[in-house]
Amino acid sequence: MAVTDQSETQVVIIGGGPSGLLLSQLLHTRGIDSIVLERKTKDYVLGRIRAGVLERGLVDLMHEAGVADRMQSEGLVHDGTLISYGDKMFRISFGELTGHSVLVYGQTEVTRDLYAARETADGKIVFEVEDVTIQGADTDAPFVTYRTDDAEHRVDCAFIAGCDGFHGVSRQTIPSEVRREYEKVYPFGWLGVLSRTPPVNHELIYANSERGFALCSMRNEQLSRYYIQCDITDRPEDWSDDAFWAELKRRIPADQADKLVTGPTIEKSIAPLRSFVTEPMRWGRLFLCGDAAHIVPPTGAKGLNTAASDVHYLYNGLRQFYENDDPAGLDAYSQKALARVWKAERFSWWFSSLMHRYPDQTTFDHKMQVAELEFLRSSRSAQQAMAENYVGLPY
Ligand code: APR
Ligand code: PHB
Repeated sequence: MAVTDQSETQVVIIGGGPSGLLLSQLLHTRGIDSIVLERKTKDYVLGRIRAGVLERGLVDLMHEAGVADRMQSEGLVHDGTLISYGDKMFRISFGELTGHSVLVYGQTEVTRDLYAARETADGKIVFEVEDVTIQGADTDAPFVTYRTDDAEHRVDCAFIAGCDGFHGVSRQTIPSEVRREYEKVYPFGWLGVLSRTPPVNHELIYANSERGFALCSMRNEQLSRYYIQCDITDRPEDWSDDAFWAELKRRIPADQADKLVTGPTIEKSIAPLRSFVTEPMRWGRLFLCGDAAHIVPPTGAKGLNTAASDVHYLYNGLRQFYENDDPAGLDAYSQKALARVWKAERFSWWFSSLMHRYPDQTTFDHKMQVAELEFLRSSRSAQQAMAENYVGLPY
């Protein structure tokens, strides 16, 4: 189909999830023009239920982007978390061990705030785009084509940010002979529910039980988020609300189970768990951000937070290029982003290995888990290491 619409911008951002929107809004604050191309509708994007723990780095970026008001007023400051195994439970105090806290605020709300800010700034966002194709990423004159309704569009640009998630087009644009991919697929999933009930505890509870992992989380004082480890073959419809609540109660300490307020679930879904990294995160004028480049199991709540550090590095690299005519930040992007990505991958893998029951786990493996949990409970240095990773390693 012939191109019926041609335009140009400085940065084409593929993907209107949190990575793409945060990058677009940050660039806007420095007068750098971008367009966001999103495959789905805005409502579809906002309908995704994802994690809800923000590291200090992401909180700072939201302030820098000028979209922190609702996050600050509605987000819950968490100064620690609880870890249980069997009926034992202990607390990791982030504040005492690191001097920092995390903010509990749903990713959906982060995305909603970013959409509102882009719309207020009259930012260019095109929804329901099809057949996005990246052309000339390895030249000095890249462009992106896409289709809407029956029109074919071309956008000439200086840079392309691939913020289109794990199933996007950007990573695949990097030639296979250039790409190196690393992956671990976990032999279980997470069954998650939302319920309009008060959280069982004012802090999160990560539970290792003989029946499998469970997590008690929240969105606010009247909206709870719970997860239980499930078989990868399970489907949400296999689990009635009663069956879910009964299983959750079996996996958390009795004193917590006794005070758990149950109710109808308003969302129920199963997520697979995977660790994945692609290297490099740059190819010519194409830069990968967030899930387009890496995936973590949700155990450490590092998905959005690692996307945020990618955005921080790319945003500052583009600023340096446009404001100081200096490409050094862009040239260092992939190496700098990957250094932090791999630390987030390690922490997410470690925490997942510690807290879940693996189908092929031997009695010795289980003894190692218990010994590591006992060490974490009794060692300040072990707790400090865990806390430093949880609140977010420096950018
Ligand atoms: N063209 C345009 N948009 C696309 C394409 C495409 N070919 N492919 C995917 N997209 C869109 C998706 O519809 C989605 O809205 O890109 C967006 C990618 O958003 P996310 O998958 O949320 O990834 P990211 O923005 O990097 O955010 C990472 O989201 O998935 C969670 O756990 C993850 O918390 C992490 C965060
Ligand atoms: C969530 O609230 O969805 C959540 C919180 C912490 C995690 C994972 C998910 O580690």
